[in-house]
Amino acid sequence: MKPEIRICMDEENLSRTAADLFTEQANRSIMESDRFLVALNGGNTPMRLFQLLAADYREQVDWAKVHIFWGDERCVPADDAGSSYGQARDVLLSHVPIPASNIHRVRGEIGPAEAAKEYSLALKRFASPPLDWPRFDLVYLGMGEDGHTASLFPGSLVDVREPIIPVTAHYQDRPANRVTLTPAVFNSARMVVFMVTGEKKAFTLAKVLSDRYNPAQYPAQRINPKDGDLIWLVDKVAASQLPRKIKS
Ligand code: 6PG
Repeated sequence: MKPEIRICMDEENLSRTAADLFTEQANRSIMESDRFLVALNGGNTPMRLFQLLAADYREQVDWAKVHIFWGDERCVPADDAGSSYGQARDVLLSHVPIPASNIHRVRGEIGPAEAAKEYSLALKRFASPPLDWPRFDLVYLGMGEDGHTASLFPGSLVDVREPIIPVTAHYQDRPANRVTLTPAVFNSARMVVFMVTGEKKAFTLAKVLSDRYNPAQYPAQRINPKDGDLIWLVDKVAASQLPRKIKS
């Protein structure tokens, strides 16, 4: 599936576009199957999206039918500043009427191996046979300056069969021990939305979107849903090094 690249004026415009996609996919999925399965990402980029969903977009979603998962998590306690669950809880989940039983967090505090094993059981409960995991209605992903996505880092194994794996990787000052879903899960989703902002990511984004396929060096290239939409939301500064043919 050819990715759709949307160049947004700025971070606010990008976050509102991401929120529009959330409500559209939520309403469509709830109409079709009476539930909406979404996987969130961590990091700084989704923060404004979470704020918007908790406020401006709050009334547009039937939160009782929404199930929240994470594409990856850092192995720290939920109250740690490095916890992606903690971040989403404080900015979004504690401000919307979503049942606690619909929030499926990775218990990072029990360590990568145990947390990965435990989360694979949670995924199985929502499995879409013949898959051993859910076919997510929507997955949000970010991209690091090094081309990583979720916690799939450069140099890591490209062809992974398991739906979820423990990872240890060093990126900026962030927790190294992590758990991540794999391309097997992301590429079975109905829609995957990347959110990429900032000048620091422009060089790598141009490599990921325009250059030759090098999934070992650019893990973000491993994401390409087999039977789903792939949308890249990028702001103008992150898009500054994209070749004209992609920008037009
Ligand atoms: C994580 C993320 C990770 C993130 C990128 C971009 O939990 O660390 O899932 O893949 O999306 O590192 O992070 P920023 O949005 O902060 O640039």
